[in-house]
Amino acid sequence: MPEKKILYKGLIETWRKYLPVSKKTPVITLFEGNTPLIRALKLEKIISKDIELYLKFEGMNPTGSFKDRGMTLAVSKAKEEGANAVICASTGNTSASAAAYAARAGMQCIVILPAGKIALGKLTQALMHGATVLAIDGNFDEALNIVKEIASKYPVTLVNSINPYRIEGQKTGAFEICGQFTPDYHAIPVGNAGNITAYWKGYKEFKSAGRIKNLPVMLGFQAEGAAPIVRGYPVEKPETLATAIRIGNPASWKQAEAARDESKGLIDMVSDEEIVNAYKLAAALEGVYCEPGSAASLAGVIKLAKQKYFSKRAGSKKAKVVCILTGHGLKDPDRAIKVSPPLVTVIPVLKEIMKHLKFTGAQK
Ligand code: F0G
Repeated sequence: MPEKKILYKGLIETWRKYLPVSKKTPVITLFEGNTPLIRALKLEKIISKDIELYLKFEGMNPTGSFKDRGMTLAVSKAKEEGANAVICASTGNTSASAAAYAARAGMQCIVILPAGKIALGKLTQALMHGATVLAIDGNFDEALNIVKEIASKYPVTLVNSINPYRIEGQKTGAFEICGQFTPDYHAIPVGNAGNITAYWKGYKEFKSAGRIKNLPVMLGFQAEGAAPIVRGYPVEKPETLATAIRIGNPASWKQAEAARDESKGLIDMVSDEEIVNAYKLAAALEGVYCEPGSAASLAGVIKLAKQKYFSKRAGSKKAKVVCILTGHGLKDPDRAIKVSPPLVTVIPVLKEIMKHLKFTGAQK
């Protein structure tokens, strides 16, 4: 007899008990979540002998980022409440996800983007899923203010992470990690600060439910040119090549600080150079191709390890560090090309080709 197949049913069905849904909620799903948690032994070797490093690869969600966790719930609830349209401001991933889930729900999706600052892959997603896309000559923070105003005046549901259902959906990332082990440290990029808020909520809920004993220390990382929480004031003109987290005035600022303080963690910043270094390392050493903004978490762990942050706190066992890699590398092909060596074109002759291949050892 073949084993009975147990099919994965998506986030809402898996975690229904912990989510604000009822039998009446229409479940709009693309079977998001259930993403891999990958041990990164080669990275450990070069980063610190005091940690076990795991990469939670959220790029494996259906639209290629963690946003799908929040969007399945936000769009399902919008549908339940009778909405015909959703709206968001976005640095790219939220719009890709909102557009996909809206398409699935048969709803209109309106997207307002900062012109010229959206990675190509993300833009193609919003367009292909049929969203109404407008670019503004302004940044994400300005786009968010505009969509908030539109949602307050017109019959359209806002699906940015100030929508509480987004946070509820995204907290399931913490549940999945705890299904394997409870991390000692949780490293995460911080942009609009919804995701750090969501993970912290998830960990706390699992502790209250008696499913874990301890809570991780939360380590958030912003890009140096877009680090309002680290600096303590909004950044009017945020700048970073990690366009996903190019945000100067995060909506969930206070909640991110609460996660940091309650967990005795920190929110620090990493330079674009450190981000690119981590981005390349994860892809080249571990086979995990994330987008630049995602690599802020790994860049942060590398930075802290250099400062002996983990060694100073080392116990008898290695600390388990989870890095959330929030989005897929394919989202931003331009950056990958820019940081890679130029492609060499040669004539199709073996001798010519062999000149370029650095084979060591004798011919067979
Ligand atoms: N990583 C990626 C790949 C993102 O797209 C974002 C946010 C973040 C990290 C930061 O998460 O905002 O919850 O702190 N992207 C949003 C967007 C702003 O519009 O796609 P956060």
